[in-house]
Amino acid sequence: MFENRWNRTLLQERFVKNIKHHFKQEGEAWLERLPEISHQCEQTWQVEMMKPYELSINYVAPAVGKDGRKLVVKLSVPGEEFTCELEALRQLESPAMVRLIAFDENLGALLLERMEPGGTLAEVEEEDKACRIAADVFEQLTREPLGETTLPTTEDRTASLAKIVSYYPAGCGPISRSTLLEAQQTFNRLHRTRKKQWLLHGDFHHYNILQDGEEKWKAIDPKGLIGEREYDLIQFLLNKLPEEDPVSVIDKRIQIFSEFLKLDKQRFVLWGFCHSVLATCWTVEGNGNYNRPFYRAIAAFQQIHQKYYHHEVHEAEIR
Ligand SMILES: Nc1ncnc2c1ncn2[C@@H]1O[C@H](COP(=O)(O)OP(=O)(O)O)[C@@H](O)[C@H]1O
Ligand SMILES: [Mg+2]
Repeated sequence: MFENRWNRTLLQERFVKNIKHHFKQEGEAWLERLPEISHQCEQTWQVEMMKPYELSINYVAPAVGKDGRKLVVKLSVPGEEFTCELEALRQLESPAMVRLIAFDENLGALLLERMEPGGTLAEVEEEDKACRIAADVFEQLTREPLGETTLPTTEDRTASLAKIVSYYPAGCGPISRSTLLEAQQTFNRLHRTRKKQWLLHGDFHHYNILQDGEEKWKAIDPKGLIGEREYDLIQFLLNKLPEEDPVSVIDKRIQIFSEFLKLDKQRFVLWGFCHSVLATCWTVEGNGNYNRPFYRAIAAFQQIHQKYYHHEVHEAEIR
């Protein structure tokens, strides 16, 4: 039975490909050890793991406790990403965050409460409703940083873009050098005029917000990030965009979030511009492929900025 299960799960080709691509030899060794790691988790936590969910870069499977409790086991290649997720889960503990039941740092394993029915916010078709649900979850989730933390900050995102600029001096994929530099300047300007810093989710979007019961929604999969709240919502703005007229959908989402969460709309739009440049760069592959919705969002943020703040923006004006 043990063997059958592993033959079946390892057929998720995209997952195997992602792990090998991202973690190289370390990833291959981890894939080899996955059956053994799962077995150890089952023994230690007295749970039985079932067929996994659709996987991307972590092994996530529903599990049942001896007492019938519905749980989830999430296994990651041990390292910084895992450590940050663990720290974020602990620091962002709230009714709007999936509850961490147990963990094993050496194994890279988390035991989580299971969301039921567990559908993602991407299944909610009404744009306004999805935004209001997300805003409600986000409001409960984000908080002031709790003392010392090793979580990354939005300054690290600026550093990531700086690296890209020096690696691709002529431009990255479809993004020209002048757009890269403009995004870099915008990042720097926003940091020079920085506002209140928050403890953020770090990967807040439709697919990381799950339904728990009839009415409730909770976030999963935090990466952990320190920065302004506006920044953390950009990844949500970039997801689930229509082919036709993404500008008005982004604009509408900005209105709803700004009103509901009392955000600084201009900074929101500017963070949107520089983050969508960075997010697109992250997706550029050697064969020229890149994430087109993220790329199209760059122009969308430029247009929205033009619409509301059509005069030239001087640093002094970004309060
Ligand atoms: N606590 C949970 N309850 C129910 N389903 C979950 C839970 N955690 C994860 N999942 C399912 O597993 C999928 C992948 O989990 P996620 O933590 O987002 O992994 P990744 O870091 O690889 O994106 C989710 O999209 C969801 O379908
Ligand atoms: Mg996820």
